[in-house]
Amino acid sequence: MTAAAPTIGIIGLGTMGLGIAQVYAAAGFPVIATDAHAPARETARARMADALNARITAGKLSEAARDATLSHLTIAETLAEFTPCDLVIEAIVERLDAKKSLFRSLETILSPASILATNTSSIPVREIAAGLAHPDRVLALHFFNPPTAMKLVELAPHATTATKHINIARQITEKAGKTVIECPDRPGFIVNRCARPFYGEALALLSEGRSASDIDAAMLAAGYRLGPLSLIDLIGADINLAATRGLQAAMANHPRYHVFPALEAQVAAGHLGRKSGQGFLHPTTPGPAPADAAQIALRIEATLINEAHWLLSEGGTTAAGIDTAMKLGLNFPRGPFEALALHGRPAVLTTLSALQAAAPQAMKDRYTPAPGLA
Ligand SMILES: NC(=O)c1ccc[n+]([C@@H]2O[C@H](COP(=O)([O-])OP(=O)(O)OC[C@H]3O[C@@H](n4cnc5c(N)ncnc54)[C@H](O)[C@@H]3O)[C@@H](O)[C@H]2O)c1
Repeated sequence: MTAAAPTIGIIGLGTMGLGIAQVYAAAGFPVIATDAHAPARETARARMADALNARITAGKLSEAARDATLSHLTIAETLAEFTPCDLVIEAIVERLDAKKSLFRSLETILSPASILATNTSSIPVREIAAGLAHPDRVLALHFFNPPTAMKLVELAPHATTATKHINIARQITEKAGKTVIECPDRPGFIVNRCARPFYGEALALLSEGRSASDIDAAMLAAGYRLGPLSLIDLIGADINLAATRGLQAAMANHPRYHVFPALEAQVAAGHLGRKSGQGFLHPTTPGPAPADAAQIALRIEATLINEAHWLLSEGGTTAAGIDTAMKLGLNFPRGPFEALALHGRPAVLTTLSALQAAAPQAMKDRYTPAPGLA
């Protein structure tokens, strides 16, 4: 990286911010970072060093590379020190008022050419940008956890984000080794939205009396590294429930984002998955695939394919972008459009139509085919 490398600002040094700071620092960008909480600032360098040392122990990093990464990190005490930043990424608390107020303060400090990025998972980017002097420089750079390991970054501009800012944010983040997929400023961006049916249809099958083992074994047989219920066990049923409820509210309670009582019951019972010691399957793993494994997998993939088409129909992304995002964000063996090519449109539409016929009235619209699919 040359001396003219853009300077990156990171605000919030929690789970996401520290990892995002490491991503850019490791790529040679000067990084200025801070946190409102003094202990988070004071421990940030040591926490990053620990993360880098773990990679040295694993034989994946040299001591020289660790030292170079740490040399690019400056911990700031005040926002005034962010003046040189070309791109500032906030990873603070998930609250609209906090993010707006931070960006308002930054506007008085930064040059108008610098970009303000949010790592929000659920707040509309346009709402964060609204009322700023330069809303055209606001966009989302949505990293996945842990940012150092996950290749994917969703880049979500809002309606008036300037193309030059989109391009610069993309170039810088690609230089930092990430695959950047552009997507619209829609709830859940690509991955958190298009993943809903993976969990939801598994929970529907569960409520119809299928065992968690059969459902997950069917998806393993179809090439998935983890079944949907084991994935909920890994993420935490409480986190998954909050994400589903968030999407349901943001999408006007559409039945495609139905919150299944089976998930609520897991949380109420405290069976959160790995973190509580008991989940849908955890501590066990799926048994042998059932005889109808292929139908189970087709049902889940048909709903994934449909959701991806609904998102595509709303504009701002591409089929290839959605496929890449789902593979990188969730370790899926294929994206929904690749799954469509595998099964063929007739099989997918027949599956959706049978599900719609069998669904109770309030749930029928869950299976209505998207415009580009029907
Ligand atoms: N955790 C995830 O898996 C994940 C994934 C993608 C996106 N996100 C998003 O990233 C953001 C951060 O999430 P996290 O999990 O890292 O949270 P976290 O609680 O681990 O860290 C947030 C940090 O921000 C600091 N902070 C809070 N308000 C601040 C302010 N006004 N100014 C400066 N610092 C402030 C806190 O002290 C804390 O250290 C959220 O918007 C979240 O939705 C989280």
